[in-house]
Amino acid sequence: MALIEAKEITKIYRIGEIQVKALKDVFVTIEKGEFVSVMGPSGSGKSTFMNVLGCLDKPTSGDYLLENIHIGGLGRDELAAIRNKKIGFVFQGFNLLPRTSAMENVELPLLYDGISARERQEKALEALKNVGLEGRGDHHPNQLSGGQQQRVAIARALVNNAPLILADEPTGNLDSKTSAEIMELFTKLNTQSDITIIIVTHENDIAAYSRRTIKFLDGRIISDDKKEKR
Ligand SMILES: Nc1ncnc2c1ncn2[C@@H]1O[C@H](COP(=O)(O)OP(=O)(O)OP(=O)(O)O)[C@@H](O)[C@H]1O
Ligand SMILES: [Mg+2]
Repeated sequence: MALIEAKEITKIYRIGEIQVKALKDVFVTIEKGEFVSVMGPSGSGKSTFMNVLGCLDKPTSGDYLLENIHIGGLGRDELAAIRNKKIGFVFQGFNLLPRTSAMENVELPLLYDGISARERQEKALEALKNVGLEGRGDHHPNQLSGGQQQRVAIARALVNNAPLILADEPTGNLDSKTSAEIMELFTKLNTQSDITIIIVTHENDIAAYSRRTIKFLDGRIISDDKKEKR
């Protein structure tokens, strides 16, 4: 069973009289454990594609299946539950809550689950350890470097053991050395567990960490290249 199956997906945005076809006839299958980069010029549909995969937005037409579940048939609450259980999100701007400790930021996705405070802390500590931030749990975002903040965001994405991590330009705000460290972390996570990682990037150096590159142009997939097995 594929983790992700997108079949003939289109996404049309309508603003007044104007229609923008952001995705056109997108077919893609992604297996569990893949590490995929998504590339293409600005406005080519990368974020729209990620929003569909992340169940943040529904396609205008076509079918999206995540772990064999038809996403199109679900309502708001069901979508929220799927996002919480199955998907970890990482953003360019980290999107951490300010004035809130790293630990509490990482615990957030567990709050919806009725898990005890103690278990939340244990899981958050483990996730922070997994990203190399043990001992930083009490720091607030403004007391951490950009790379460390992104590690906290990655720990938050990991804490629910979701099978899928979606990262839209996760290194866009980081210098090249820190970017490399974040990509090495993604590589480690992808190798040590079966977690599927999909990242959007504009940079070939960053895409080179992935095992497969999907390129968009004008809302369509124009290439889809897999590397040989490791
Ligand atoms: N909420 C929206 N409403 C209307 N049009 C939108 C919306 N979001 C995106 N678009 C349009 O859809 C197209 C694809 O946008 P998208 O954000 O997916 O591009 P992108 O490849 O992520 O670009 P970038 O590299 O700049 O982030 C663009 O023409 C954009 O203007
Ligand atoms: Mg984008």
